[in-house]
Amino acid sequence: MALRMSIAAMSVLAVAAVLVVAGTAAAAASCPATPPDAGATLQVSHAFGPCSPLGAESAAPSWAGFLAEQAARDASRLLYLDSLAVKGRAYAPIASGRQLLQTPTYVVRARLGTPAQQLLLAVDTSNDAAWIPCSGCAGCPTSSPFNPAASASYRPVPCGSPQCVLAPNPSCSPNAKSCGFSLSYADSSLQAALSQDTLAVAGDVVKAYTFGCLQRATGTAAPPQGLLGLGRGPLSFLSQTKDMYGATFSYCLPSFKSLNFSGTLRLGRNGQPRRIKTTPLLANPHRSSLYYVNMTGIRVGKKVVSVPASALAFDPATGAGTVLDSGTMFTRLVAPVYLALRDEVRRRVGAAAAVSSLGGFDTCYNTTVAWPPVTLLFDGMQVTLPEENVVIHTTYGTTSCLAMAAAPDGVNTVLNVIASMQQQNHRVLFDVPNGRVGFARESCTAA
Ligand SMILES: *[C@@H]1O[C@H](CO)[C@@H](O)[C@H](O)[C@H]1NC(C)=O
Ligand SMILES: *[C@@H]1O[C@H](CO)[C@@H](O)[C@H](O)[C@H]1NC(C)=O
Ligand SMILES: *[C@@H]1O[C@H](CO)[C@@H](O)[C@H](O)[C@H]1NC(C)=O
Repeated sequence: MALRMSIAAMSVLAVAAVLVVAGTAAAAASCPATPPDAGATLQVSHAFGPCSPLGAESAAPSWAGFLAEQAARDASRLLYLDSLAVKGRAYAPIASGRQLLQTPTYVVRARLGTPAQQLLLAVDTSNDAAWIPCSGCAGCPTSSPFNPAASASYRPVPCGSPQCVLAPNPSCSPNAKSCGFSLSYADSSLQAALSQDTLAVAGDVVKAYTFGCLQRATGTAAPPQGLLGLGRGPLSFLSQTKDMYGATFSYCLPSFKSLNFSGTLRLGRNGQPRRIKTTPLLANPHRSSLYYVNMTGIRVGKKVVSVPASALAFDPATGAGTVLDSGTMFTRLVAPVYLALRDEVRRRVGAAAAVSSLGGFDTCYNTTVAWPPVTLLFDGMQVTLPEENVVIHTTYGTTSCLAMAAAPDGVNTVLNVIASMQQQNHRVLFDVPNGRVGFARESCTAA
């Protein structure tokens, strides 16, 4: 029963997204030239915008189709993150064929091997792994896999090496010369050879970068061209480049409507904002890769909405709390928090405008209304979101919706996930050595 409700909830949310953006679907404008990467700064592009660098490799049939899929994917992403939060947590997979890893939301360019082979890697703050589809991979959804045989600097990681121990489910069969590993989730699975090669990002070179060379994928598990794991775990890009970048990065995610690589991912301590509001990072030893923060409340206009403290409290044992995630599109809050926020937003908009639902978004108006500002309250930091981070508008007509949702129906999730729509056009700083996350407004959307 719970499973059936979840699927229903997902498909209505998908319908909503189609309706909301249908007017922009045809706007495949001429695409501006991609600016070069330089120094330790990578340009960031939305993976499925009108000028997607993934082009035809993106699974989505159209721009509107992408958003529909994205909204649906969020529900399974949430379950994935929630399952990460507690080891061995059992849950019902929400839809068949999904979702070990996400198709990317934001991508950066990188070059792997000698001579260098170009890749588009998904920016994923909740993953440690670096997965790269390799030549001969069975089931990888890419037409341009990385070809290890063409790289003079490629090395398989031998069994017994320290990296092999860190890989998920490492396997070394009696005759194996190199370390294999695998991962499965719902009905998807991945099998990879732990490997090392030279990775170049922007102006920098990472020698002997350890990644999973994908050999087999089932379900829709594999990212089209690979993943840049920016989580905090030991095998992540962040951990591997600690000497270069000091486990520090920031990004500005452009709006999903942005045409080009207009956002940036800035690696290292140099060039980061000096004066920025910050909140402490919380570490969950059970799930070291997730960026937990201490969200203490939500304000609508001047009023702090009333929510039970337990709905926001950080609990490493259950995984409860709030995480920042670059791979979820619309913020998802546990039901008591979402309902309190939504009710206050509705009260502020006023009874004169009739509230309606558009699929999974339950607070929509089909007349122009004055949306109240929403402020996320963190320990030591307040982030007041401008309307573009709170409301999704049709580009035709006047319908607009509160662009957040409760956790999927029928699933008892414990995580609040602050998603990309609510982060876009902000500089978000992840300063791991100092245990803090910063937020500052920055415009990085080019239309
Ligand atoms: C993206 O395209 C816009 C419009 O053509 C252009 O003004 C802008 O400079 C481009 N962004 C970057 C980072 O070059
Ligand atoms: C707007 O909403 C009202 C109330 O639900 C409904 O009667 C009306 O038909 C809607 N208008 C449009 C243009 O959808
Ligand atoms: C979260 O912040 C509140 C308010 O500052 C504080 O009382 C609480 O102890 C913090 N929780 C954690 C886990 O740091």
